[in-house]
Amino acid sequence: MTSGVGKIRPLVAGNWKMNGLKAGLREAEAVRDAVAGPLAGLAVDTLLAPPATLLMAMTTACSGGGLTFAGQDCHSNASGAHTGDVSAEMLKEAGATAVIVGHSERRADHAETDAVVRAKAEAAYRAGLIAIICVGETIGERKAGETLAVVARQLAQSVPEAATAANTVIAYEPVWAIGTGLTPSPGDVAEVHGAIRRDLTERFGANGHEMRLLYGGSVKPDNAKVLLAVDNVNGALVGGASLKASDFLAIVRAYES
Ligand code: 13P
Repeated sequence: MTSGVGKIRPLVAGNWKMNGLKAGLREAEAVRDAVAGPLAGLAVDTLLAPPATLLMAMTTACSGGGLTFAGQDCHSNASGAHTGDVSAEMLKEAGATAVIVGHSERRADHAETDAVVRAKAEAAYRAGLIAIICVGETIGERKAGETLAVVARQLAQSVPEAATAANTVIAYEPVWAIGTGLTPSPGDVAEVHGAIRRDLTERFGANGHEMRLLYGGSVKPDNAKVLLAVDNVNGALVGGASLKASDFLAIVRAYES
């Protein structure tokens, strides 16, 4: 089953995590220049999610060429007494069009539950941002044969009722593949992405059929072509390899025919 392949415009997104000082803007500028120049004809969207401290500078320096920008997290409230947090409205004003929510590092480091993630996705919609909602199993869950059940639960409880193909992107990121150099086999990715597609289509109809499903976890220039060719994989969420423009652009180029 191809589930809209050929219809869904893919997205290659870079998550810089807690990396990047002002000097890193040069990498974003190089991505902007390539996306606006030699790669402009590729049928793929591109996005960078810098740390919050760099977001405004990056959107100011690099906008106008097709590259878009995201926050890495947001609070569920629009404003208030939440020291250290950033709201979806603040990200929007800083030039973001999207925000990553429910990344496994947030779920683990900040004890974010599915309910919290869902509230953050709803905050993204409220602010007019696309929610990039992350799901994925731990190594223990995979070994116990619980991958599909875990991902189904995370989807059911983290994705709001108001999700559409326009306001939501799902990122499948197996926790054990993040930053380890390990990846699931293409067959394993196809199995999980196929299950996600079925779940979303059952729940959201055409919107679920057309929602973008990204794979994330050790995506590199040398494995991108294989992973991005898997059925129901509509792009990548890239961590480490998004920090250098040359690596990130090599992954984008996986969409060159
Ligand atoms: P790596 O590409 O460094 O494995 O990180 C993946 C990730 O967590 C992106 O959000």
